[in-house]
Amino acid sequence: METKPKNILVCVAWPYVNGPPHLGHIAGMSIPADIFGRYNRLIGNNVAMVSGSDMHGTPVTLLANDLGVTPEEISKKYHDIWSKSLNDMNFQYDLYTHTHTDNHKNIVQEIFKTLLEKGYLEIREQLMPYSITENIFLSDRLVEGECPYGDNDKARGDQCDVCGKTLDPSDLGNIRSKRDGSIPEFRKTSHFFLKLSEMEEDIKKWIQSKKDWRQNVKNQSLSFINEGLKDRAITRDLSWGIDIPVDGWEDKKIYVWFEAVIGYISATVELFKNSDNPEQWREFWENTSSESYYFQGKDNIPFHSIILPAILLGIEGKNLPTEVVANEYLNFSGKEFSKSKNWAVWLPDFLEKYSPDSLRYYLTSIMPETSDSDFTWEGYLSSNNNELVANLGNFIHRILTMAHKNFDGKIPKFDENSNSSKEIIDKCNEAISEVGNSISKRKFRESLNKLMALSKYGNQFLDKNEPWKKMKENKDEAGEILGQSIIIINTLSSILEPFLPESSKKLQNILFDKEINEWKIILPESGKPFKKPVPLFEKLDEEIVLMENRNSLNE
Ligand code: MF3
Repeated sequence: METKPKNILVCVAWPYVNGPPHLGHIAGMSIPADIFGRYNRLIGNNVAMVSGSDMHGTPVTLLANDLGVTPEEISKKYHDIWSKSLNDMNFQYDLYTHTHTDNHKNIVQEIFKTLLEKGYLEIREQLMPYSITENIFLSDRLVEGECPYGDNDKARGDQCDVCGKTLDPSDLGNIRSKRDGSIPEFRKTSHFFLKLSEMEEDIKKWIQSKKDWRQNVKNQSLSFINEGLKDRAITRDLSWGIDIPVDGWEDKKIYVWFEAVIGYISATVELFKNSDNPEQWREFWENTSSESYYFQGKDNIPFHSIILPAILLGIEGKNLPTEVVANEYLNFSGKEFSKSKNWAVWLPDFLEKYSPDSLRYYLTSIMPETSDSDFTWEGYLSSNNNELVANLGNFIHRILTMAHKNFDGKIPKFDENSNSSKEIIDKCNEAISEVGNSISKRKFRESLNKLMALSKYGNQFLDKNEPWKKMKENKDEAGEILGQSIIIINTLSSILEPFLPESSKKLQNILFDKEINEWKIILPESGKPFKKPVPLFEKLDEEIVLMENRNSLNE
């Protein structure tokens, strides 16, 4: 049954570029987004996968201050590093841009003005903590103090992690700067506020109508709303960021979160700007049958389920997210990844030594979809050696080398209409539809398990039929078994693509001498030559575990 292709916008969270990417970043956003995007392209949908670097905001400004360089230099440097790593991982972003472009600035300012005209913005005065030592207003997360509700003297200016209540910096007892411990003074400052309170009902109804969102996303968003949506300042006392498009506001900037979420629109515009059809971006944002999925870590949820929808409702006529697909956290050997404590596996370092597909495989198999999960070097080694090499790689390599060697480099003769072939074809079709179903429901671990189950089935089929023994006694029969096994291999080469694109390409080049971008079984043709197989995956030396664990402790 042919269905009409859908427009699918795959939105990936925009990383702050105050450091290189680590494995936690990509496990929660780029990997699931890429699997989803690639699968949708294979089944014929129109996909636009967009993101970019979040160049502005406090994290970048502070790092630049610390290093004595400009925020522009720092953000540009790490933007380049991020772009390269994402590319090296073979993530198929249609556009990975950044928020310091004219295109982005213009669109953000236009949206700001529209909201102002429509009455959704209002100027208010507030008291904010000001650091006398650093001469800057301290953002909510840069102050800490005693929570007024309970026993926690390390509550942040926006929230207490112990009791979960949202706070204002002025609620904190014994307030101090997290930067240098100094005591800030409260100074008056004016800002534009987005009137979220007026949109509370609409946003609540919209979230409640979402039946298939992940439980954590729905709960977090609703509990936020149930506390009562407060109007939020969308400008800041900063010198690095997007100018406020109103006279007299030259010394302040637009709040980084307000503009970053607009990046999804500006990036879609940028993507089609120089194409034959520059208006194509509207299909993704204004055609109500188009779908949009937002991939991110759990700390980003309210910005995508509340702030972005509020902006979109305010300007009218743009699609709200179909789903906010947030993941929990990936830890590293039991502890949170931490840039400041240098407790991380940095992606550029990793890719100097190991292959992207081995990492894509491991991180998908432990993706923190429903609870936090843990990257360990032991786990990585075991996933590579015991699953990728021993299950998948071994099955494929055993068959292809045996067939190539004994049948003159050609697919052995086999009867695709025999009962046993039919059984295998059914099994492959079942795997194709199950893996696809799981991906389309954003259940990525489940989808990978189903793919691996097909490979296990292949290994069992081999162990039962032992073609290596039959090769001497009855070569035709051995050929029959190998030909049937190649049905499974062809299928695997297709459904591997979203998960392990490099290996899938390599395998398809061996089998078909070209890439096949299809989500279906391609039946092997008896007598057709194929290339001499090379192993798809490499076994890793057990010593890497000791070595890498030692490295991370020493650094
Ligand atoms: N820069 C933010 C972070 O690293 C994420 C921004 S996502 C966006 O947590 F949608 F706002 F762009």
